[in-house]
Amino acid sequence: MMISQCQRLMAGIILLRGGSWVSTGNESIADSRYAFRRHFYQHAGFRYIESESEVKQEFNIYETDDLISQYLEFHYGASYFDVPNFPKACIDHVVSVLDTQKTERALDIGCAVGRSSYELARTFDHVDAVDFSTRFIRNALQLREHGKVRYMIPIEGEITDLKEFNLADLELGDRAHNIDFTQGDASNLRDKYTDYDLVFAGNLIDRLYDPAAFLINIQSRLRAGGLLVLTSPYTWLEEYTDKSKWLGGIKDNGENVMTYDGIKQILSSSFDGVCEPIDVPFVIRETARKHQHTIAQMTVWKKC
Ligand SMILES: C[S@@+](CC[C@H](N)C(=O)[O-])C[C@H]1O[C@@H](n2cnc3c(N)ncnc32)[C@H](O)[C@@H]1O
Repeated sequence: MMISQCQRLMAGIILLRGGSWVSTGNESIADSRYAFRRHFYQHAGFRYIESESEVKQEFNIYETDDLISQYLEFHYGASYFDVPNFPKACIDHVVSVLDTQKTERALDIGCAVGRSSYELARTFDHVDAVDFSTRFIRNALQLREHGKVRYMIPIEGEITDLKEFNLADLELGDRAHNIDFTQGDASNLRDKYTDYDLVFAGNLIDRLYDPAAFLINIQSRLRAGGLLVLTSPYTWLEEYTDKSKWLGGIKDNGENVMTYDGIKQILSSSFDGVCEPIDVPFVIRETARKHQHTIAQMTVWKKC
């Protein structure tokens, strides 16, 4: 290989695994080596190829972020202890209670890595999927772009397992282009998020700093007759919501105030309850031997 080609190649190389490159001359380029390193395998020849054609790279990254991996497994992975997939179970129920609503536009607010958005896209022509976390949204976008994802789940300690799934295997790929994933704040939604036949807020309200303000504001985003679907295990934590803003789980003059009653009080002037609240269980896997088993309550409200 000519030295000028070597230099061009060296300039493009960031990491050379398993050995070191032969010297290209003292300070001839920033990456040049001063001498052979005898303890490394020496690469003395490379075949350097240039092409006019676009390089098609095979998708080969995998997600190592623990929280993202946990949610990927929760939304798209195995089911544990025979508890059905939570986002799918929620949207299956939502679809079963649709009556005169149009199925043009849905909003999935607090969508995380997006399984409920894909399930909604089976029925709705357009789905806006919004989450506050850029990590979640970045991942949801990558999944939509590549159609598949690889991620690590913990077994125990530092031992992990590599998992992979395809949207196509879950029959979710066909309508992926109908979903618009965007980072946004449920408590400060942009004006464009409006005119919905359905808003789904899955396990979101007890993560908001002002859930009552969200419930009041979201009303104007729905078309008349549109559905607001809430799920939550009502695990209020001051870390997310100041106690003065909790919708329930509190004592008022010695009386228990349950969250369902708090929600009903806020929504009842503009919404009718569509069905009795239902329990939707879910399991989030932490390690091979540790899981969170939670029971969310789903309520469905129709805008008058
Ligand atoms: C408990 S997770 C539920 C995720 C998903 N809906 C589900 O049911 O699996 C709560 C989600 O709400 C998101 N979130 C929290 N605060 C938010 C806000 N102000 N606006 C939008 N999303 C928010 C979090 O990033 C997270 O993805």
